[in-house]
Amino acid sequence: MRIDIISCVPQLLESPFQHSILKRAQQKGLVEIHIHNLRDYASDKYKSVDDYAFGHEAGMVLKIEPIAKCLRSLQSQRKYDEIIYTSPDGETFDQKSANRLSLLQNIIILCGHYKGVDERVREHFITKEISIGDYVLSGGELAAAVIADAVIRLIPGVLSDETSALTDSFQDGLIAPPVYTRPADFEGMKVPEILLSGHTAKISAWNLEQSIKRTKERRPALYEKIKHHLSH
Ligand code: ADE
Repeated sequence: MRIDIISCVPQLLESPFQHSILKRAQQKGLVEIHIHNLRDYASDKYKSVDDYAFGHEAGMVLKIEPIAKCLRSLQSQRKYDEIIYTSPDGETFDQKSANRLSLLQNIIILCGHYKGVDERVREHFITKEISIGDYVLSGGELAAAVIADAVIRLIPGVLSDETSALTDSFQDGLIAPPVYTRPADFEGMKVPEILLSGHTAKISAWNLEQSIKRTKERRPALYEKIKHHLSH
């Protein structure tokens, strides 16, 4: 998979892809991430990428020219399956959206800007608008990093234990059960006995029971959606 991210503050995207799982995914050749500085596509001598909004008192808006130039340059090199724009008024991102995106070959993520982007970009270039939640960030970069992270870890081979994405919270509509590590007894706070028993079938049953209990208690709306699929 190839992900191109277009931003006017590319420095914000440096660290998230240089460590841990996302770094290894690139080293293994499972994903290519290319960050593009919108400023490199600005044509005026000030390299400006934003301008005042028509008809508004305040607030800067990302201009169409540098974005069009950058997108066209990328599109002349390969076909993109989606051109995503990060915005609080987009479709809310969830595990299902991450699963769908992880099946694509090439995607572009255009990072939004505080006051937004010239509407003509959204109308003519963008194929999908994504919000990572009902709150406003100062730019789309952190949202782009969140989306890319959630998608990349689902690409087969990215996680060393192939099953671990399958047991993630939300993957089966349930949130994950509690986990413990050594010591089994910390100052009298004990790990549930069953997990120390070595009885795999019983442990799996306990984990499922805990997942269901947690989902019911913590995410009642999620529980309502999936309860018909549970055998209990
Ligand atoms: N840009 C600003 N706020 C955002 C949000 N909640 N999701 C995606 N992009 C954003």
